[in-house]
Amino acid sequence: MRILVVGATGLLGSEIVKLLAAEHDIVTASRKGSDLHVDLSDKRSIESMYTQTGTLDAIVCAAGSAKFAPLATLADEDFSFSLANKLMGQVNLVRCGAAHISQGGCFTLTSGVLAQQPMEGSAAVSIVNAGVEAFARSAALELRGKARVNVVSPGWVAETLESMGRDPSQGVPAAIVAQAYKRSLGGSASGEVIDAS
Ligand SMILES: NC(=O)c1ccc[n+]([C@@H]2O[C@H](COP(=O)([O-])OP(=O)(O)OC[C@H]3O[C@@H](n4cnc5c(N)ncnc54)[C@H](OP(=O)(O)O)[C@@H]3O)[C@@H](O)[C@H]2O)c1
Repeated sequence: MRILVVGATGLLGSEIVKLLAAEHDIVTASRKGSDLHVDLSDKRSIESMYTQTGTLDAIVCAAGSAKFAPLATLADEDFSFSLANKLMGQVNLVRCGAAHISQGGCFTLTSGVLAQQPMEGSAAVSIVNAGVEAFARSAALELRGKARVNVVSPGWVAETLESMGRDPSQGVPAAIVAQAYKRSLGGSASGEVIDAS
């Protein structure tokens, strides 16, 4: 399969690329340092990227930011940034990508455990993650017969906890989380949220 991985240089993305590259033709994308450059928060940038990809059999997104901060300190701009980046970025990756994915292809997006298990400071992140999951379920219905749409929901990733000075044993190693993306590609499921926590 020819697979586009957006966020390929990141913690999860690099493990996804490592896992899939043995069996598939991988095209990497991120803002810098990948085969293709894209800014998820800019729909024109996504459209421009797709003009360079050719037809793809799968599109994986392991990118997207949202602001984590106490509700009282979140500014309008923080919500706008979060919605435009991790939510609409992934929505537009599917909207624009539908014309570039092969028959029976698969989109795999990324949400996160804060969609279902919020914590203090997660208001913007939780909205975005829940929105990605709701969108994927809905888009899966509309693209039925054309392409599948799934979401991987990671919990805390061990390496991220370690970089924050926290106990990595409370998280899941990135290489294990990457296997959830491979499961999305391989099965027949669509509209699924794959729990990788
Ligand atoms: N790590 C965790 O514990 C954890 C837990 C739950 C959910 N998640 C979610 O998993 C996803 C990946 O997390 P990660 O820890 O692997 O992140 P990461 O290490 O920071 O990597 C992010 C990747 O996305 C790219 N990127 C960032 N902003 C972009 C943009 N606007 N347009 C295009 N590419 C962009 C980055 O490269 P450039 O900077 O060059 O663009 C990089 O390749 C995120 O959506 C995150 O919310 C992570």
